[in-house]
Amino acid sequence: MTAAVTLSIRRFDARDTDAVIALWQEAFPEYRDVTRPQRNPHLSIANKLATQPELFFVAVLGERIVGTVMGGYDGHRGWLYSLAVDESLRRHGIGTRLVAHVEEALTARGCPKLNLQILSAKTELRKFYEALGYRADEVISLGKRLGEVATSPA
Ligand SMILES: CC(C)(COP(=O)(O)OP(=O)(O)OC[C@H]1O[C@@H](n2cnc3c(N)ncnc32)[C@H](O)[C@@H]1OP(=O)(O)O)[C@@H](O)C(=O)NCCC(=O)NCCS
Repeated sequence: MTAAVTLSIRRFDARDTDAVIALWQEAFPEYRDVTRPQRNPHLSIANKLATQPELFFVAVLGERIVGTVMGGYDGHRGWLYSLAVDESLRRHGIGTRLVAHVEEALTARGCPKLNLQILSAKTELRKFYEALGYRADEVISLGKRLGEVATSPA
């Protein structure tokens, strides 16, 4: 793999939409799950383009989109979402570079801490993040859905 030579990371552009959705559908099974309409990749992209779009990045190898990551900063903490690397190119350091890229962007905004969530069953993901310095916080994660679940962008 020549990623070390030619891989670049840049802001998401609307023209990347189809390639990003294809990547997510492979990387995130929930995007293929028709029983979870709230996981709509078109809506995820539309929402991110309306909220801190400058923190939505793609990794590009030549002309090909091979990875994604989203960051967010609410003025108190930063969050990382939608980290994905093309299955055929994993274990070549692309995920590490994407995390470093979003960390830099958040640090530049004054963000003091970056949080992320992973499914507890995904032990390999925990290894990945621990290798990058992330540690489990002594918290439980709570969530609540707000309002109606939109199934398509407005
Ligand atoms: C998680 C993911 C983004 C990692 O991307 P990647 O480009 O393969 O990661 P890297 O090559 O930078 O891995 C760096 C290190 O993390 C660890 N690591 C990465 N994937 C691992 C795995 N499946 N099992 C164990 N350790 C792993 C290794 O220590 C690796 O270094 P090494 O290859 O020299 O041993 C990728 O596996 C992916 O897209 N998974 C599916 C989507 C997903 O679950 N995203 C996370 C949502 S929170």
